[in-house]
Amino acid sequence: MRKSIVAGNWKMNTTFAEAKALITEIVSDLNNETTEIIVAPPFVNIEAVVKATSNSRIKVAAQNMHAATKGAYTGEVSGSMLKSIGVQHTILGHSERRGYFNETNALLKEKVNSALTQEMTIIFCFGEELEDRKSGNHFKVVQNQIEEALFHLGASSLDHIILAYEPVWAIGTGETASPEQAQEMHAFIRSLVANNYDSVTADKISILYGGSVKPTNAKELFSNPDVDGGLIGGASLKAEDFLTIVNAF
Ligand code: PGA
Repeated sequence: MRKSIVAGNWKMNTTFAEAKALITEIVSDLNNETTEIIVAPPFVNIEAVVKATSNSRIKVAAQNMHAATKGAYTGEVSGSMLKSIGVQHTILGHSERRGYFNETNALLKEKVNSALTQEMTIIFCFGEELEDRKSGNHFKVVQNQIEEALFHLGASSLDHIILAYEPVWAIGTGETASPEQAQEMHAFIRSLVANNYDSVTADKISILYGGSVKPTNAKELFSNPDVDGGLIGGASLKAEDFLTIVNAF
């Protein structure tokens, strides 16, 4: 049985007080025992969120990390630093990192290797731009993003990877991929994993959908056989909306 997962990516939102209020509300109002729940606050608030979730089953992720363990990389945060405060998960490859910070598949491969060395679980994001979809290139783009950053790994490493398909045209735009578009791409991704590894590995890996998931569309998206949950941006900043999505299976 694959895990159902809902992860909240808070991006560059929440002051310290707001982060504490948001996580306190999520922890106290959570009434779900099956969905795996992950929240990704900004670095500056991450330790407070780790503390606030310590008696709950909510997991905490970083939104990014550097590939090196330490050193002269001003402004950066390493996996070993995250591990030292109890963070076991990291998002890597978000389209905002790829787009605004020039993160390439080659760099992401290094970050993936580093996170796995730290025994972290990775939410690995990828997805096509609108032009790719319009020109019918979306499958090829997604295939390259996955192959170049992940397919050097052995099958056992994939136990520590959660895939997140996030079409760039659907992120923060209010425009969501249709349930059919999401299912079509997720089935394609699972077949890539099956072809490169084997069907057991492909059946085990959770593939999340991200891009304008809301309380009103989550159920329809998650009801698809290959959509195992969501990576939620905007709607993860309101506890009530986030928890409605957590319960949308
Ligand atoms: P959104 O963001 O839900 O606000 O579209 C999703 C994401 O970027 O992970």
